[in-house]
Amino acid sequence: MLGRGRDLHSERGVECPGDLPAPSDPGLVERARAAKAALGDKVFVLGHHYQRDEVIEFADVTGDSFKLAKEAAARPDAPWIVFCGVHFMAESADILTSEDQTVILPDLAAGCSMADMAAIAQVEDCWDELVEAGVADAVVPVTYMNSSAAIKAFTGRHGGTVCTSSNARTALTWALSERGGLEGDGKVLFLPDQHLGRNTWARDLGGSLDDCVVWDPHRPLGGLTVEELRAARMILWRGHCSVHGRFTTEAVAAARATIPGVRVIVHPECRHEVVELADEVGSTERIIQTIAAAPDGTAWAVGTELNLVQRLGQMFPAQRITFLEKNVCYCSTMNRIDLPHLVWALESLVDGRVVNPIRVEPQVAADARVALDQMLALPGETSKD
Ligand code: 13P
Ligand code: SF4
Repeated sequence: MLGRGRDLHSERGVECPGDLPAPSDPGLVERARAAKAALGDKVFVLGHHYQRDEVIEFADVTGDSFKLAKEAAARPDAPWIVFCGVHFMAESADILTSEDQTVILPDLAAGCSMADMAAIAQVEDCWDELVEAGVADAVVPVTYMNSSAAIKAFTGRHGGTVCTSSNARTALTWALSERGGLEGDGKVLFLPDQHLGRNTWARDLGGSLDDCVVWDPHRPLGGLTVEELRAARMILWRGHCSVHGRFTTEAVAAARATIPGVRVIVHPECRHEVVELADEVGSTERIIQTIAAAPDGTAWAVGTELNLVQRLGQMFPAQRITFLEKNVCYCSTMNRIDLPHLVWALESLVDGRVVNPIRVEPQVAADARVALDQMLALPGETSKD
């Protein structure tokens, strides 16, 4: 997909409209420090746990997507929020911050392949088909944070909520509560990560896998029958994370065979069979907290993005931390934000230029805000995360 002269709409930011510093510039760290010092309280830098170390070093706060959404909303005084993460996170930050604040994504090509698996036109078509099938009245949409602002807006318009991997259990419980909870007849349309939806339903809520169907947006009626839709409780969008979807049950077995006493901990974006074999499951924040609380000498095989796993090794040298699956790579879009892009974004601000602002169209932002506010209003943390 990426490269000169292709579809520029799908390649936001491939052409960097500025003088990007050379990655080999030995003065990059000093330049980032100087620019940040010059900007003082005017800039607030957020860093997702999957970001490179060279970028995390300059983050004022680090976190998972839930924590970063709350942090962005809690910084009304910083005119510029530099978001070291991916596009959907920066969109959410823009929606949750005031008109006077600008959210900046240092490289616009930092998207998310999972978020791209659900286009708003496909989701609208799906809803129309659910209406025609006579099931839409029982359906509440729950949209993972990893989705476009337009899909969050759709969720807001249809009385649903956004969730993250930290609060998916609470969000599902809320969505089902109107129609009798787990034992009732309510349904959830879960977008766009089928694995998080399935894992939360089956593992956290104790629901049956037989109640889950997968909606394929490329097939009429999602590839399902009206009867299957009527019987289902969880309608899972056919999307997945291209990083977490690659962890395998074989890797879990290999870790157990080769590392005495190993504890396997994975992110809930992993496939259900992998999650079933793990000892612990949780969002990035939860993974960090669990390892931090373990006794020295504990062996861990960690199934999440590699930047975070490497950092865990540095943070907890007294524990034995390995990466669960040797065939899994860094998240390529998270890795787009590197030190040259961060320096470019910060130095441009020092020069009075705002580069790569993320601005969600007002009506979309207003509808998406309804779903994001619903998420922030969910009852306190009740999930295992
Ligand atoms: P969390 O930050 O919710 O753990 O999500 C992980 C992820 O894949 C972000 O893109
Ligand atoms: Fe998207 Fe997966 Fe990368 Fe997160 S780790 S940004 S879900 S592709």
